[in-house]
Amino acid sequence: MLDNYIRLLKNGKVVAFPTETVYGLGADAWNPDAVKKVFETKGRPADNSLIVHISNIQEVEDFAETISEDAKKLMEAFWPGPLTLIFSKKPEVLDIITGGLETVALRWPKHPLSQDLIARAGPLVAPSANSSGNPSPTKAEHVKEDFGDDFPVIDAGTTDIGLESTVLDITETPYRIYRPGAISAEEIEKVTGQKVIQAPTSITSDNTAARSPGTKYSHYSPKAIVQWLSEEASIQPQKGLYLLHNRSSGSSSKNVVQYNGNYKKMGRELYDRFRQADHLGFAAVFVEPFTDKQQKQSIVQALQNRITKAIG
Ligand code: TXA
Ligand code: MG
Repeated sequence: MLDNYIRLLKNGKVVAFPTETVYGLGADAWNPDAVKKVFETKGRPADNSLIVHISNIQEVEDFAETISEDAKKLMEAFWPGPLTLIFSKKPEVLDIITGGLETVALRWPKHPLSQDLIARAGPLVAPSANSSGNPSPTKAEHVKEDFGDDFPVIDAGTTDIGLESTVLDITETPYRIYRPGAISAEEIEKVTGQKVIQAPTSITSDNTAARSPGTKYSHYSPKAIVQWLSEEASIQPQKGLYLLHNRSSGSSSKNVVQYNGNYKKMGRELYDRFRQADHLGFAAVFVEPFTDKQQKQSIVQALQNRITKAIG
C-alpha cells in the first residue's frame, strides 16, 4: 500500500504519514525543493528547523559530525521511539533543514508504517503535519482539515502518544530538553548519568530561542481560548469544553471530559479535543491544572507544556 506514496516522495512531493507521536509531513531530506515545499505547505517560518527521520542507527553518520558515547547510549535505550536528539551537523546537511543552525535534529520513529516508509523512501524531514500554529494532527482527518481532502496522507488511525517527541540537546552540558515528551528527563539521566535540565516553557533570557527556534513560536492553539480552570470555578458546560483529569464534575454533559488520572489517554486526545472545541463552536476550553506531584510524570510535563503554549 506504500508504493504510491514512496513514488511521490522520490519525485520530490510531500506526504503525511503516521508516527507513534503525531502525523508527520514527510519529504526527501536530500532534496532541497522537496524540503522547501514542507515549509510552504505548513506556512512555517524558515528559521524553525526540521527533524530528520531515519530508519536505523547507522544513518546517523550521514548527518551527525560527531556521535558521543552518551548519544550511543541514548539511541540504544530509546530508539526507535519518541526521542529527538540534537547533534552537531555535517556540512552536507541541507541548510534549509537547519535554518542556519550548526546542529541537526534526528529521530528514528517507532510506528511500523513510518519505519517501512523511511527505510524505502527516506531519510525524511518531517515536522508535525499541521498548518503552522494549529494543534498537531493525531488523525489523518486532522491533516485533511489543514491541507485539504486531496492531500496525500497515509491513514493509520489515531496515533498512540498524541504529543510530539522529547527534543534533547546533547551538544552542550548540561544536556537540555527543549520540548518535553513521553521520554522524561529522569529516564534520560538514568541512561547517561548526566544531569538534564528543562528549557523554560515561556521564553526568558536564556539562549533556548537561539538554539531551538521552534520554542519561540506560539503553538498548538485552537481558535477557542484555552484557560486553566481555577479550583473555585464551577463547571458550566454551556460555556465551553472542560478537560478534567482529577476532579469529578457530577456533570453528564459531553462537554465535560473526565480522564480520572488516565494521563496517557489525555495526552492521546488533547489535540483532538482542541480541534473538537472549534468544530462545536466553543469560545473556550477549560483545563484543570496539574499539581507539582502530577508533573513528576513525563506525559503530564508534556501536557503542561502544550497547554501552557496553547494558552499563549
Ligand atoms: O514527534 C515529533 O517530533 C513529530 C513527528 C512527526 O516525528 N515531529 C515534530 O516536528 O514535532 P516539528 O517540526 O513540529 O517540531 C520539531 C521541533 C521544533 O520545536 C524545532 O524547533 C526543534 O524540534 N528542532 C529542530 N531542529 C532543531 C535543532 N537543530 N536544534 C534545536 N531544536 C531543533
Ligand atoms: Mg510542530
